[in-house]
Amino acid sequence: MTQRTLVLIKPDGVRRGLIGEIVGRIERKADWRITAMELRTFDRETLELHYAEHAGKDFYGPLVEFMASGPSVAMIVEGARVIPGVRALAGATDPIAAAPGSIRGDYGVEVRENLIHASDSEESAEREVKIFFPGLV
Ligand code: PPS
Repeated sequence: MTQRTLVLIKPDGVRRGLIGEIVGRIERKADWRITAMELRTFDRETLELHYAEHAGKDFYGPLVEFMASGPSVAMIVEGARVIPGVRALAGATDPIAAAPGSIRGDYGVEVRENLIHASDSEESAEREVKIFFPGLV
């Protein structure tokens, strides 16, 4: 089943020089391909829209602040089972709980600076693709 998903390499991943490592893991999966990519410091408006479902939670403000602190890489990745697949590559939200071998498990320590975002469902993916790549259908 071909799907598409929205992936962000968060500012900590860009700052630490992990773009190549993360992109490489995605590209090496059979059948997956990156169909759009942009490196940019996203504005608060975009980030608040992206994280709207978390507005009001205690981590929301610090999360938006962190995400606006420097450039991220936004990507659309397409391929078979790519939505659950990238979530599995990313690992659990808390890097200490993330399995070794996953991106967060191998490179993360703090919950906030957990390197990567990936859409969690087809509905989220379509919503998030429109936020980060408004020119695409
Ligand atoms: S929830 O409440 O279960 O829906 O939250 P969760 O799915 O675990 O996380 C949603 C996003 O918020 C980020 N997050 C945090 N950021 C900063 N500080 C803290 N404490 C924190 N806890 C969760 C988490 O990384 C998720 O971001 P994305 O970009 O979606 O991975």
